[in-house]
Amino acid sequence: MSHQDWNLTNKKIILGITGSISAYKAAILLRLLTKSGAEVQVIMTEAAKDFIGPITLSTLSNKPVLHSLTHDQQWSQHVQLGLWADLLVVAPASAHTMAKFANGLADNLLCAVYLSARCPVMIAPAMDVDMWNHPATQNNIRKLMEIGHTIIPVEEGPLASGLEGKGRLAEPETIFSAIGEFFQSASLLSKKKVLITAGPTFEPIDPVRFIGNHSSGKMGIRLAEAALMMGAEVQIVVGPVSEPIQKHPRLFIHRVTTASEMFEKVKSLDSEIDIYILAAAVADFKPEHSEKEKIKKEGKSNPTLNLVPTPDIAKHLGESKKNGQFLCGFALETEHILDNAKSKLHKKNMDMIVINSPKDDQSAFGFDTNKISILENSGKFVSFGLQTKREAAMVILKAIISSLRT
Ligand code: C5P
Repeated sequence: MSHQDWNLTNKKIILGITGSISAYKAAILLRLLTKSGAEVQVIMTEAAKDFIGPITLSTLSNKPVLHSLTHDQQWSQHVQLGLWADLLVVAPASAHTMAKFANGLADNLLCAVYLSARCPVMIAPAMDVDMWNHPATQNNIRKLMEIGHTIIPVEEGPLASGLEGKGRLAEPETIFSAIGEFFQSASLLSKKKVLITAGPTFEPIDPVRFIGNHSSGKMGIRLAEAALMMGAEVQIVVGPVSEPIQKHPRLFIHRVTTASEMFEKVKSLDSEIDIYILAAAVADFKPEHSEKEKIKKEGKSNPTLNLVPTPDIAKHLGESKKNGQFLCGFALETEHILDNAKSKLHKKNMDMIVINSPKDDQSAFGFDTNKISILENSGKFVSFGLQTKREAAMVILKAIISSLRT
């Protein structure tokens, strides 16, 4: 879709502008936003005013530009502004403002609005190459991404300092397209009910010991967040994880410990689910008996543990799949990856399987990044490079949506 095609009628956007030579591009972005129907409230930092005039921006947005925590001897309503917006975009975002965001400082109106905002946040950084490469800046960017904000990548090229490299503000058309895509994806799964399993299961041996695995639940939790962003109602059935799960009015969190508990919970939510995404690393076996008291080592030289299979949730859902329901599983393989994934997809009657390998660097268990491939039951197979689990979640959901449409 070309950038002229985005229709942003009724969308409320706060455009934050900070001090940077590239602030002039914010005027072009503002023009694109208002032309496409968005209502835009501009908030500038004091430094931004040295680079672009508030009169230009208030004329283009048809609203007074805000810049101070107090206004005409009145307190500026940063809390209301934070609640009013559907999206907060900061372009250009200086290294200094990003550092304040990442650390929760609120010494100006833009930072106070940022901390009060409940809407998604998009940040388009702009700075000199060495500031960009500095570990402090990179750490702040990582933090902002972990919070869930979208960072619009900087561009590489000549910089205001005369140096060359990374740090240029993305072009206004690029930022505008990212905003258009954001609003388009916000309704992609509206009215859809999504159930996600996440994390490991722990199968008790005795009151203090269990059989478990290294799953952190991060992939499933990122999938839940992405599905919520796309407008879905989400049930997440999650094993024992330490990864925090942010509350959301359309998110229902069910915490379980064992494979059997996960199975029972999934079955109890079964009736109206449109899309299942089974990202949990469910134990395949559990001890036949879980001892009531802690097993003592005294008197046992070679104790054995008798194991029995756990219920296969994916297989059950595949067998009982109703018309229109979509089943996406995960495969974590260490050998014969594609063949094993293919046979799992067919055996469990899945519509799609996401393959990841713990042998890839920075991929799968515990990491914030993942390297995935997607195999559909039509035979379509696509591999992706290393990406954040947040990006991978978007890719997986978009693949599900396009498969549902064909
Ligand atoms: O057979 P395997 O465990 O490798 O299958 C992986 C897929 O099946 C994953 O999507 C996983 O969540 C799901 N699964 C399940 N119940 C089990 C075992 C696996 O839902 N007991």
